[in-house]
Amino acid sequence: MTALDLLDQLRLNGTIPRHVAIIMDGNGRWASERMLPRPLGHRSGMKAVREIVESALEAGVEFLSLFAFSQENWQRPPLEISALMSLLEEYIQREADELEGEGVRVRVLGDIERLTPPAKAAVARVTAQTADNTKLTLNLFISYGSRAEMVRAARRIADEVQAGSLRPEQVDEAAFAARLYTADCPDPDLLIRTSGEQRISNFLLWQLAYAEIVISPVLWPDFGRANLYAAIREYQNRDRRFGRVPAAAPPPA
Ligand code: IPE
Ligand code: IPE
Ligand code: MG
Repeated sequence: MTALDLLDQLRLNGTIPRHVAIIMDGNGRWASERMLPRPLGHRSGMKAVREIVESALEAGVEFLSLFAFSQENWQRPPLEISALMSLLEEYIQREADELEGEGVRVRVLGDIERLTPPAKAAVARVTAQTADNTKLTLNLFISYGSRAEMVRAARRIADEVQAGSLRPEQVDEAAFAARLYTADCPDPDLLIRTSGEQRISNFLLWQLAYAEIVISPVLWPDFGRANLYAAIREYQNRDRRFGRVPAAAPPPA
C-alpha cells in the first residue's frame, strides 16, 4: 500500500491526533551500521525531519513536537555538538521560506541561551518569520529537559507569589501548565519514539500524562511518511480511557 492510500485509510478510520510528539532517536546507530561518523547520521536525520513535517501537514496534524537535542546531550563530545548546532542553522536556513509558505509556525523550545550565537540568530529569525502561521505548529525542542522546564515554571510561580501578583490558592494544574514552554499547546495525543528504545528520556514529563505511546523499531533517518501514518493508525486503534471506564462498558452492578 502506498503512503497516500494509508492516509485515505487514516481519514476513514478515525480521528487524526491533534498533537504528535516524537523522540527522534537512532541517528548514531544508523551511521555506525554504515561505518559512517555520527554527524552523518544526524544529517540524514535532518532529511527525515523534512519528510515528517510534510506528512504531518498532509494528514492535518495541528501540533508537531520534535525532540532534537536534550539538555543531557550537552554531555556529548564537542565535535558532535558543533555538528548538531551547524545542522540546526542549516535546517532553518534551508527550510524557513518553504515552512513559511506552507503555513507552519516554527518555535524552538528549551534553554536557547546555551546555543551558539549563529544558531540563536537563526532561531530568532525563523520564529519571527513564521509567527503568524496557523496551519501547523512545529515545536523544535532543543537544549530541552522536562525537569528543568518544570523547575523553571515553579520558580516563576514562586516569584509571582512573592511579588503579590499570584495567590497560593490560584496555583493549580492550569496555572502550572501555563508557565511551561508548551503553554499554548494541547497535550500530545500521541508520542512516537524511534529506534526501539522504551523510555521517555526527560521529554515532556508533565504533558505526556495521557499520551498514547508508539515505539517504532525504525532508526530515525529511515523513519518516513508510511511509518508516521502506521503509528497514527495504531493510535486510532487504541482505547483512550483517561482513567474512566470504557465508553461501551455496562453500568456497575
Ligand atoms: C538522536 O540520535 C539525535 C540526538 C539525540 C541528538 P542519537 O544520536 O541519540 O542516536 P543513537 O541513539 O546514538 O543511535
Ligand atoms: C533522547 O535521545 C533525546 C533526543 C532524541 C533529542 P537520547 O539518545 O539522548 O536518549 P538516551 O540517552 O538514549 O536516553
Ligand atoms: Mg539516542
